[in-house]
Amino acid sequence: MSRFSRLLFGNRSKKSSDDSVYGSVDKRRLPVHVAVIMDGNGRWAKAKGLPRSAGHRAGVERVRTIIRMSSDIGIKYLTLYAFSTENWKRPKAEVSTLMRLLLEYLRDELSELNEKNVRIKTLGDMSRLPKEVAAEVARATFATKDNTGLTVNMAINYGARQEIVGAVKRAVSEAVDTGEIDEQYVSSLLYTAGQPDPDLMIRTSGEKRLSNYLLYQLAYAEFYFTDTHWPDFDEKQFAIALDDFAKRDRRFGGA
Ligand code: FPP
Repeated sequence: MSRFSRLLFGNRSKKSSDDSVYGSVDKRRLPVHVAVIMDGNGRWAKAKGLPRSAGHRAGVERVRTIIRMSSDIGIKYLTLYAFSTENWKRPKAEVSTLMRLLLEYLRDELSELNEKNVRIKTLGDMSRLPKEVAAEVARATFATKDNTGLTVNMAINYGARQEIVGAVKRAVSEAVDTGEIDEQYVSSLLYTAGQPDPDLMIRTSGEKRLSNYLLYQLAYAEFYFTDTHWPDFDEKQFAIALDDFAKRDRRFGGA
């Protein structure tokens, strides 16, 4: 825990709180794949009279928390919306902060990710990222590629419509026979190729929309919305979301 996060969150004994919260999760009804829209960093900061950058920094602490917990309790895939194709419209300074945080996160966390057998993958167009960030992302992806535990998909410069447009272009360029186009083929053209679709989509901070996130993959996901801002979405909040999911009756269109 950094000095900054100790100031914001206090110097809690992590282990003991983890033990009781982790124990409360029903491991038999865990989602295989959880997708998250980490919203509310700005509002969290504003409510505390802090700059937005402080909200994003605090948000990174929660990225650490949720990755650690997902890995420890046995979730197999976690997809995090770190930066959308629309986020370039934000003020330059905020875009730079987000890029720097991503870079620092990947650099600082790589050894722990490897220790925990976590594999990092990316969803999105990495070609538009600042060179340094793209290089760090590529390094983390390569260094963790053989890990077999939790897969963390970082959606960076990601937009679902762009992803679908890209898939259509590829299908056309492969001149595939229309009779051969089925759901499996379309899935294989998406960034998430080879992965199961998300079972649970969590959005923090009260907004109830998808914001161009995984439009194809979320067809049968259960949605969980909470008013909690992302920097306050801790182990306990995550356990509550998982408990809510465990109680859902999923019928996938059946009776
Ligand atoms: C939404 O909050 C959050 C984002 C656009 C970025 C999420 C990024 C992080 C949590 C940090 C970096 C990520 C990683 C993976 C290290 P907002 O700014 O839209 O909040 P607001 O709606 O309250 O203004």
